[in-house]
Amino acid sequence: MDINCIELCCGLTALPQIVPYLDHNATTPCDPAVVDAMAPYWSEAFANPSQRGHRPGLAAAVAVDQARQTVAAACGVAPSRVIFTSGATEANNLAIKGLCEQRLGQGRHLVTVATEHVAVLEPCRYLERSGFTLTVLPVRPDGRLELEALTAALQPDTVLVSVMAANNETGVLQDVEAVADLCRQRGIAYHCDAAQACGHVPMDPMGWGVDLLSLSGHKFYGPKGIGALVVRPGLALAPQLHGGGQEGGYRSGSLSPPLIVGLAKALTLALQDQQERGQRLRALREGLWHGLNGLKLPPGVELLRNGCPAHGLPHTLNVTVRGVDGARLHGQLRRRVALSSGSSCSSASGKPSHVLRALGRSSAESAASLRFGLGRGTTAADVDQAVAAVRDALALAAYR
Ligand SMILES: Cc1ncc(COP(=O)(O)O)c(C=O)c1O
Repeated sequence: MDINCIELCCGLTALPQIVPYLDHNATTPCDPAVVDAMAPYWSEAFANPSQRGHRPGLAAAVAVDQARQTVAAACGVAPSRVIFTSGATEANNLAIKGLCEQRLGQGRHLVTVATEHVAVLEPCRYLERSGFTLTVLPVRPDGRLELEALTAALQPDTVLVSVMAANNETGVLQDVEAVADLCRQRGIAYHCDAAQACGHVPMDPMGWGVDLLSLSGHKFYGPKGIGALVVRPGLALAPQLHGGGQEGGYRSGSLSPPLIVGLAKALTLALQDQQERGQRLRALREGLWHGLNGLKLPPGVELLRNGCPAHGLPHTLNVTVRGVDGARLHGQLRRRVALSSGSSCSSASGKPSHVLRALGRSSAESAASLRFGLGRGTTAADVDQAVAAVRDALALAAYR
């Protein structure tokens, strides 16, 4: 289906030219300074960084080395412990499958959480089909994991725990440090999918005791198609991509200097304005919630905030509009504001969000939920437009 066709199907051709973009959890715009930093590596300094034997290759290799040092320093590891991947999906697959395959002789049990991204749940289910035992822990209604439940789930043959830092749909932050502590005491490897947290909230993954950390460039104003798996020193993984032996043999395939340089630049910039951005977006997000909460709702319609504001990403708001038809609500809203009903992946599948279902929302409630992802460019006017759009959409979509 081409873009025109998709637009026609969605009735989007009547869209005003510019609608507020409030879907930053799905992806962020690539920062212009990141685009500039990447620019020379497409057509000028284009050589393969594996070819250190000639000048152009060496120049590309130096750029990759510098970028690797930047990412490593931000994560508190030596550069050799950063494996560049195509994104967090690949990083999660390498972490989960690579670790379990490597430790086959030590145990066959792994633990994860019901609200994880599918890029964690699916590799875990794949391993389950291959003979591992999988425990998928529930969460509390606010989306947080009970540490007691995790403790109770750990078994003598547990080899891996995978618990994300921040949820992509609700923004809920898990207690990464406490999970790491539990795992370390028992000699269990801990993988943390930090795709939504990195560059948005303060983190000290290696200081906290995380063993494997997944990152994704396009979630913090970098390019799509690049991410990293950060691996604690001494931890071995079975490679999942075999070939030329790049990335210390862990991930074969030619490296992309422009994407790698872009990832490092984006991370540097995101860490620079993280605190100020977080404070500004938290205030805007609370203004958004206040505005929505103040709307005069049609009879039988109720707004419910999902997640845990005290432990949440500053830029994310997830709201269930109980009492309306989700498809109609989103049908009205998409003409006025770019937001999501859940993760980009669950939106594509058309299935109700497994995350909201895990928080106790019904299928109908999950479908009638709105994820607002604010970002660097979001203004108070965008928030006002979003509130007005929801007000108007509710008037049309409400029913009982
Ligand atoms: C928490 C989380 N993990 C993994 C991914 C997948 O990341 P990527 O698009 O880099 O493969 C996403 C993207 O939505 C995410 O939000």
